[in-house]
Formats: sequence, C-alpha cells, structure tokens
Amino acid sequence: MGHIINTVAGVAALTALFIPEVAAQSCAGVSGRFQPRMGSGYRVSLLATGLRQPRHIVVDSAGNLLVAEGGAQSVRRLVLRDEGNIVCAQSNTQLSGTNTNHGIALSADGRTLFTSNLASVNAYSYDPATGQVGSGRQIVNGMSNTGTHPTRAIATSKWSPDTILVARGSQSNIDTTTTQTSAGRSMIKTFSISAGTQSTINYNTGGEVLGWGLRNIVGLTEDPAYGGIWSVENQMDDVRLNGRDIHNNNPAERLSYHGILNATTNRYKGLNYGYPSCVPAWDPQNVGINGLVVGSLFKPDSVPNANDCANRMTGRLHFHAHTAPLDVKFTANGTAAYIAFHGSWNRNPADGYRVMRVDFRNGDPVADVSSTTAQIPVMENSNVGGCPNNCFRPVGLAFDAKGRLFVSSDTSGEIYVIYGA
Ligand SMILES: *[C@@H]1O[C@H](CO)[C@@H](O)[C@H](O)[C@H]1NC(C)=O
Ligand SMILES: *[C@@H]1O[C@H](CO)[C@@H](O)[C@H](O)[C@H]1NC(C)=O
Repeated sequence: MGHIINTVAGVAALTALFIPEVAAQSCAGVSGRFQPRMGSGYRVSLLATGLRQPRHIVVDSAGNLLVAEGGAQSVRRLVLRDEGNIVCAQSNTQLSGTNTNHGIALSADGRTLFTSNLASVNAYSYDPATGQVGSGRQIVNGMSNTGTHPTRAIATSKWSPDTILVARGSQSNIDTTTTQTSAGRSMIKTFSISAGTQSTINYNTGGEVLGWGLRNIVGLTEDPAYGGIWSVENQMDDVRLNGRDIHNNNPAERLSYHGILNATTNRYKGLNYGYPSCVPAWDPQNVGINGLVVGSLFKPDSVPNANDCANRMTGRLHFHAHTAPLDVKFTANGTAAYIAFHGSWNRNPADGYRVMRVDFRNGDPVADVSSTTAQIPVMENSNVGGCPNNCFRPVGLAFDAKGRLFVSSDTSGEIYVIYGA
C-alpha cells in the first residue's frame, strides 16, 4: 500500500517515513479488527471502537462528531483532535436525555439538535462549544409501527432552514395499505420546525408529502451546492414474477431525486415512486419483460394491482439488489455523493458492506439512469465472506469542514475516517 503515502497532502510528505504502511491507521488505544480495502486515492483511519450500534452521524459547527448510538438509544459526542494526518477522539460522552435509535440532524444554525426514534422526532437546544443539550420536546409524533422498519431518517435543509424531512418506511415487506397516502408510511414528509416546536405535529395528518411509494428510505440529504434532496431506498425482499423466484438480483435499490425545497415550484413534490405495486429492475434479463431496462418499474407477484407502472416516477440511479444503502452525503462542492451500503441478507452470495462514490455534475449524477457502473469503490471489506458478523457494516456518513468523511459501522461498534473524499 506504499502508493497511499503519495496521495496525502503536501505537508504530510515530511512525515511520510513515520506513517505505518497499513490500510487502517489507529489513534492511540484504538485498534481495529478489520483492514478495509480502500479505493484509489483514499486513506482510512479508525476513530473509535466499542460504541453500541452507531447509526447516523453529524458534525456540529465546532467540528465535533455526534453519533446516534442505537444500542444506547441516545446521542454520543466525540470531541476530535488533529494529530498530523490522522484525526482522533480526545473525549467521548453520552448526551443524557437524548433519545434516538437511528436519526440525527442539526438545524441550519447548528443550535438545535434533532433526533428520531420509532414514534417521534425530538428537538433539543444544543451548544456546540460545551455539548450542553436542553430538555427535549416532540415536534413530530404518531410514527409507531407494528412490524418491521423502525428507523426514521431525518434531514434538515440549509436552503429551507425551517424544514425538517422525515422518512417513514413500510411496516412489512409488502405493505398493501401504502397505495394510499393516508397510510402515512413508505414516504418522505416535510414539516415546519417552528410549527412543530409550538405544537407537536402528527405524522399522518400533518406536514406535506414530498415523495411516496418509497418502500423504506433510511438515508436522505440535501446537496449543499445545488440544493437538491436525494434519498436512498431499501427495496422489496423475496420477489417473484409469474411464480418464478427472481429475488437474488431484483429489485434494484434506488437513489431518488426530490427537487429543491425552496424552489418557487418543485415539480417533484408529491410524486409516487411505485411501491408497493411497482418495483425497479436491477437485472432486467432475469425479470424477462420485453423492453425493461435497469430501473424500469414492473409489477411482481402478490402486490396490489397496478396497470400504470410505466407512469410512476423512477429512481435516478440504481444499485445491486439487497445491498441496503443506509445513507448518502455530498461533498461541499456537489461533485460527488458517497453512499453507505450496509449489506444484504436476502441474497446469496452476500453483497454490499461497502462505501461507494457516485460522481455528479451540475447537481445531477454523471451516469445514466440505467447505468450499472455508476458506483466507484471507496471502502470495502477485504473479506466479504466474513459478513455480516465478522466485518464492518457502513451505516451513517458525515463530512466535516475539512472534507474528511466519517463512517459509522453499527455491528462492529466503530467509527472510521476516510481521507481524500
Ligand atoms: C434557495 O436558497 C438558496 C441558498 O440559500 C439560494 O441561493 C436560492 O436563491 C434560494 N432560491 C429561491 C428560489 O429562493
Ligand atoms: C470538489 O471537491 C473535491 C473534494 O471534496 C475535490 O477533490 C474536487 O477537485 C472539487 N472539484 C471542483 C470542480 O471544485
């Protein structure tokens, strides 16, 4: 891995002799169980271990990392320290009183912390200098589910600072009631933060539908340079067509576009993306319908009737079946989006378990909608055969102001830092 030394920034060349030639560097006292395989131009270090199911993460305005620690149902704050060409944690504290199983976001001014759990979105005053959090209040509630999919991805907007986006997935693999918006599931809604602060808003009856027919959105974000809202979706399991099992390579996971929140008119607002009646193809040949390409919607067996799959909104890019994208984040200049794939359980052999990059130009992916080669490797497991129990499983992503990309891995309890993103 000697070439890695040549890719670090100028000043680091002076200290190059002291850089250990391994893929994952460690901060003092932090040693990793895995040696990630890095894509060309990237370097990685391990920031923290021993966390309890770290899920989504954010960097605050003072450069501290806030982690939604699902296993502890609360937020953990890591104060960071630069040590030459590696960033380490100098302290690590639980923010008591916070409540989250996955979702975390900061207001545009960085002074309000939002978290989410199965039933609600909560807001707390937050002081980035001290880590002090105020008492929480529910701003959105009524999101409890009986079945699967307990996460509620949330995102705030710099372009529309009073808006919070809240995603709620289906409550089963094929959630038939989500053919109606009144189900209040398999959708992304927008809520006014100030209205929710005055009086808690019910998810089903309040807010506005940004997009629906989206099976389970686990990550969503705003492109900081162009303002577009993007989501990543986990699609249907065990899909069959005319009695034939086609689930190993279908349907596709999706990256979908939802427009710009402060646009005078957002023509993407309120669109239906097909689920539960229509799902996107990843391997059209295996689906076997004439004229189908990657991303085209088709109706599998055992779903509510639909004769208009061709007219529903499609994703903007598509990914290997069951690779489980759980987060997406953009570089500051909007030239790339990074996507965390948690990895499959519903296919053989297993796939995913990696961080990938998708290149953008003028706010839109460079690759065509039906591309199968849009993903560029960033950080992969060197032994995918060890997954899911003996490998890292990417969940949350966050950039800091210096362009370093933080990655959480829930099952291994780790946070990594990627340099060169
Ligand atoms: C939306 O917000 C961005 C960022 O603040 C701004 O540059 C843009 O002009 C705004 N658009 C509209 C239509 O107000
Ligand atoms: C955008 O930012 C990335 C770093 O995140 C950098 O490598 C790239 O050169 C920048 N591109 C442009 C066009 O500024």
